[in-house]
Amino acid sequence: MSSCWKKSNVIAGISIAIFMSVISLSYFQKRKFVSMLWHEMNISSDSIRNTNICRGIPAHNTITPLKDKRTFIIAPYFDNRKNKMTRVISIVHHKDVKELYCWFCHPSNGEIYISKAQIDVHSDRFDFPYGATDLECLEPEDWEPHYMSIHWSPIGDIDQLPLFEIRNRDPAGSLVDFTVCISTMFGEYNNVLQFVQSMEMYKILGVDRVVIYKTSCSPLMEKVLDFYIAEGIVEVIPWPIDSYLQVSSSWHHSMDPKDIGYYGQITALNDCVYRNMYRSKYLLLNDVDEIILPRKYADWKTMMQNLQGQYPEAGVFLFENHIFPKTVFTPTDMFNISSWSAVPGVNILNHVFREPDRKDVFNPRKMIIDPRKVVQTSVHCILYMYGDSINVPMDVALLYHCRKPLQANLTRESLIKDTMLWRYNVSLIGNVNIVLQQIAL
Ligand SMILES: *[C@@H]1O[C@H](CO)[C@@H](O)[C@H](O)[C@H]1NC(C)=O
Ligand SMILES: *[C@@H]1O[C@H](CO)[C@@H](O)[C@H](O)[C@H]1NC(C)=O
Ligand SMILES: *[C@@H]1O[C@H](CO)[C@@H](O)[C@H](O)[C@H]1NC(C)=O
Repeated sequence: MSSCWKKSNVIAGISIAIFMSVISLSYFQKRKFVSMLWHEMNISSDSIRNTNICRGIPAHNTITPLKDKRTFIIAPYFDNRKNKMTRVISIVHHKDVKELYCWFCHPSNGEIYISKAQIDVHSDRFDFPYGATDLECLEPEDWEPHYMSIHWSPIGDIDQLPLFEIRNRDPAGSLVDFTVCISTMFGEYNNVLQFVQSMEMYKILGVDRVVIYKTSCSPLMEKVLDFYIAEGIVEVIPWPIDSYLQVSSSWHHSMDPKDIGYYGQITALNDCVYRNMYRSKYLLLNDVDEIILPRKYADWKTMMQNLQGQYPEAGVFLFENHIFPKTVFTPTDMFNISSWSAVPGVNILNHVFREPDRKDVFNPRKMIIDPRKVVQTSVHCILYMYGDSINVPMDVALLYHCRKPLQANLTRESLIKDTMLWRYNVSLIGNVNIVLQQIAL
């Protein structure tokens, strides 16, 4: 409540507070303000005819820049876990954006209720000027807005503002068990074989849906995505972040000083949490070259039933990252399937040697979360949550991560042979073959 002020009815003259601030406006701005009030008064007669009487420019894209070019709105989500508010997932310039207002539209008479947004730039900004941000907007107490706008001022012309639908207002439909959030596919991604293998491994382990935030990929990869979309497993969220900001391919500003880190990955992850909050029991927040691989159990469902049974209060389960270098091959050619040789990308079945832990180097973790217990997420941990966070031990599961080595100088002899993945070889090879045939690669 502290920094938010509000008033439920524009026609009633907004609050003294707004009028006080209006006093300092120019004549022109005053005219505009008054005409806005006037407009709100006249609209009620039209309200019966219109299906959505909320005015503004409907936002259709995943990323909507505001006029200030310093604020980018992803989507508003209703969040009443603590108080009745809308949380707007966005990206803002951490210094330049000092004030924003939430304009809520009344669903039946189009009245506007304005509250000041609390601008909460996530602490994991890694020195980049732009960062994942929650705009926290207190809602009117006695009605339910379904649409809203965001503006740098409590005064303005609503017809010129983008209009957003507030998601998660009436969560309906059934929960699936497991959704994987792949934050940002970029750089004309073309690692087709590894992608298909990851997808088929996720399916074997129990995935229901894979949500992919896509900046760019190759035409061949596009074909593969279309196949999985038609199958009903993949949902692609367009993520054209590079149209608006200079994106860094690194996680820290000092390594590649651009506007925002790693293709806006953290913002995409947070959007994925809220977008799927009432659609999926669990979310797996990992990259496409990563697989949370159970060692003690055959699949995710059995594993999570056991873990959740052991830790009923936990909402976050962390899995240790282990690197299986794509440069180190197994000596057997058992998994060099001839029909795969024409498909670009890494064959993970050939990479079963993992790098040993390093003294004094912390293994980062990836997560399985109950999204309803999470408020803000980073890449390797949760920033705010309700409930506990559990480190899952290595004998239960690990994060299989096949990529370029971190310890490039180690010989194969000094790596650890770990063939957990091979347990699935028969079904994985069979399923990948079927998919490649159907896509006609
Ligand atoms: C299997 O294929 C890979 C990639 O084509 C190659 O580098 C590797 O040497 C092959 N393995 C064997 C044992 O022939
Ligand atoms: C790998 O070995 C080379 C030559 O022995 C050395 O110059 C380099 O610093 C080593 N790299 C790492 C990451 O240890
Ligand atoms: C491949 O999977 C089968 C059955 O699932 C198993 O019997 C076999 O040992 C696996 N192959 C290897 C090399 O692990």
